[in-house]
Amino acid sequence: MNAGSVRARWEDLPREVRDAVEARVGPPVVDFVYPAGGFTEGLAARVRSADGGEVFLKASPLGARMASHYRAEAAVGKSLPTAVAPLLLWSMEAGDWIVNAFEPVQGREPDLRPGSADLDGVLDAVGLMEKELTPCPFPGAGPVGATLSTLAGHWVRLAADPAGPRQDMWIASRRSLLEELDAPDRLVKLSAGDTLVHCDLRADNMLTESGTGRTRILDWSWGARGAAWVDAAFFVPQLIIAGHSPAGAEAALAARVPAWRAVAPEAANAFAVALTGYWSWHHGHGPGGALGAYRGRAAQAGRRWIDYRLALI
Ligand SMILES: Nc1ncnc2c1ncn2[C@@H]1O[C@H](COP(=O)(O)OP(=O)(O)O)[C@@H](O)[C@H]1O
Ligand SMILES: [Mg+2]
Repeated sequence: MNAGSVRARWEDLPREVRDAVEARVGPPVVDFVYPAGGFTEGLAARVRSADGGEVFLKASPLGARMASHYRAEAAVGKSLPTAVAPLLLWSMEAGDWIVNAFEPVQGREPDLRPGSADLDGVLDAVGLMEKELTPCPFPGAGPVGATLSTLAGHWVRLAADPAGPRQDMWIASRRSLLEELDAPDRLVKLSAGDTLVHCDLRADNMLTESGTGRTRILDWSWGARGAAWVDAAFFVPQLIIAGHSPAGAEAALAARVPAWRAVAPEAANAFAVALTGYWSWHHGHGPGGALGAYRGRAAQAGRRWIDYRLALI
């Protein structure tokens, strides 16, 4: 997934940090496996010590952009049930780095394509999140509306952007409808609730376990308190990117995620419009590489989803 990103490796950690990790994991650390998934530049590695102990480490310099995400992940990690997420074993700050250690999961990124044998397990995991994470088990969770309102508001910017898609017929023919639906205040109101929601539900933030086939959810740095439908909504375009039709993606989720069956159409519409506007803007104005390419695919999937929801096709 992240062919364009450059992740830190064990040897990039300062000696002091490696010593502090080895003091906990058991020296010397003898084996590393670096995953392919994810878009961030921090260290992510499965590490094994000579005595056979294993942990999954995520680490970042405190000065880097990622550090606040890793701190957030350490805070929410203590409240996550292991049925949903790998156990947070410990977190520490040493030598101007933050290091989070998790239970290592033996598994792989699930295949979300239509007909995949992983799909039912993945959708069950999304349904389980709703059940296990309501009421919200993390007292420090902020309102999801604060996150969602930063997604909204991009269609006005896109329409006004001289370098942007003035000639983009898809936007031009839907402009007033998009701008009307892309209302942060309404989205904040409609997304209020008392579930711990993940807000970044994608295949590379999931691992399907080799033995049990169950799927665990990783990377909780965006965890927030809100309506349970929000995570299902984040997942719809991921299924579309993987090859599902918008109708098929919504139906697959509705079959296994109660909150998605109950979502108000107005809420799902506002969400689809906001998220797709965010992707469209950042595809044109953010970095290129793997992340830029992903945002381009996601924006296209989001546009198909909007057309389906608003019955524009
Ligand atoms: N507990 C774990 N056990 C095994 N592999 C993991 C674990 N946590 C993360 N990974 C692997 O590392 C990758 C990146 O982890 P993630 O938590 O998503 O960090 P990032 O912030 O870099 O996206 C995942 O896609 C997965 O392959
Ligand atoms: Mg990730």
